[in-house]
Amino acid sequence: MSTIAIEALNLHKRFGNVSAVNGVSFNVTGGEIFGFLGPNGAGKTTTIRILTGILRPDSGEAKIMGYDVHKDPVKARMLIALIGEPKVLLLDELRLGST
Ligand SMILES: Nc1ncnc2c1ncn2[C@@H]1O[C@H](COP(=O)(O)OP(=O)(O)OP(=O)(O)O)[C@@H](O)[C@H]1O
Ligand SMILES: [Mg+2]
Repeated sequence: MSTIAIEALNLHKRFGNVSAVNGVSFNVTGGEIFGFLGPNGAGKTTTIRILTGILRPDSGEAKIMGYDVHKDPVKARMLIALIGEPKVLLLDELRLGST
């Protein structure tokens, strides 16, 4: 049986009148490569913020290797590695051959 590494269960999050996440559920099993895609404003970043414990959902559950990220944040966060979305790309620093 495969281990469920990431579990989103019926997540909801509103910002005022905006429903950012409306009933998102999915499982990612250990070793699986999972693409989480959607149009601008679909709620991807908000969902990832919830799954990493940065943001509390209004309702629903977020678990990493079975640990609830809000009820058991230390154990859950020790199992998370995340490369966030940079707001500014420092292209000069990435240019090959620059000093
Ligand atoms: N902190 C916030 N305060 C108010 N509204 C927010 C906040 N964060 C997100 N939203 C709104 O929630 C909705 C979902 O936003 P989110 O950033 O999760 O979408 P996204 O799928 O990551 O979009 P993108 O592809 O543009 O990165 C959008 O309507 C956005 O304007
Ligand atoms: Mg985003």
